[in-house]
Amino acid sequence: MAEHESTGQQDRAAQAAPRDGRRGEGSCADARVVLEARDVVKRYVLDEIEVNALRGVDLQVCEGQMLAIMGPSGSGKSTLMHIVGLLDRPTTGTVTIDGVDVSNMEPNELAATRNRRIGFVFQAFNLLSRTSATANVELPLIYAGVMGPARAKRAREALERVGLGDRLGHLPIQLSGGQQQRVAIARALVTEPSIVLADEPTGNLDSRSGIEVMHILQDLNRQGITIVVVTHDENVARHAERIVHLKDGRIVNDEIVENRTLAEDRLRELDAEEAAEREAEEASAR
Ligand SMILES: Nc1ncnc2c1ncn2[C@@H]1O[C@H](COP(=O)(O)OP(=O)(O)OP(=O)(O)O)[C@@H](O)[C@H]1O
Ligand SMILES: [Mg+2]
Repeated sequence: MAEHESTGQQDRAAQAAPRDGRRGEGSCADARVVLEARDVVKRYVLDEIEVNALRGVDLQVCEGQMLAIMGPSGSGKSTLMHIVGLLDRPTTGTVTIDGVDVSNMEPNELAATRNRRIGFVFQAFNLLSRTSATANVELPLIYAGVMGPARAKRAREALERVGLGDRLGHLPIQLSGGQQQRVAIARALVTEPSIVLADEPTGNLDSRSGIEVMHILQDLNRQGITIVVVTHDENVARHAERIVHLKDGRIVNDEIVENRTLAEDRLRELDAEEAAEREAEEASAR
């Protein structure tokens, strides 16, 4: 059989079994491949010290998938996310988005593709501190040339979508960490990207806020948005349907998650635990 041909059955079998890193075609079964890295190498040279951050990564992200990229600190997770997110270019190898090789794109074409298709969420929120939630969310629309009342309306709708319809005028400092991250998600969503890339989105949050953020990401994924979450936390990764493990710049495992965590269930459990604790406290006070 030719390299590009395979049956759906084989594809599903290939997905079900843990596979070692260098996967080729066919891993998305019937779904389209929206992002692809082929033999991506990233080498940094700083003060004559060479770091091979990525050493030949092959990765296909399937349309509508929720994928987690896991690995220890320094394994190349952020580097890979920046490269597939078109924020950075590989030293060698190719990246395609919707099947289009971006290697030869001019910087402005690259930026336009990125702005149209991809939303980013970062660990540190990266909000402008002196501007309101709405103004922060409007920012990508300003770059996209959206003017006037349409811009404010879309920002408001994006904030409502992440449950912050009642915090439109708040400054970041007047919001909790979890709320700030939700503003950042709204900012990523406002341009209606088909892909959201999140680098340690729960890294700076307490556990409940982290689960709330994963709930929003799962919800967006249910609405058809492809999600890639970078994390070093297995509990976070298990919210995804697939986990790719990186080590020393290589994919060492690519697994389908059985019994993935549903953030909604975790939130319900937390509510029940907290209610039980409150009751116990009240009972002991009586
Ligand atoms: N701009 C840079 N210049 C030089 N070296 C870099 C640069 N960015 C990353 N590196 C190196 O590349 C390697 C991979 O870094 P990367 O940030 O991708 O790791 P990571 O898996 O995201 O780690 P963490 O979990 O700590 O965020 C590291 O050894 C890092 O020191
Ligand atoms: Mg990182």
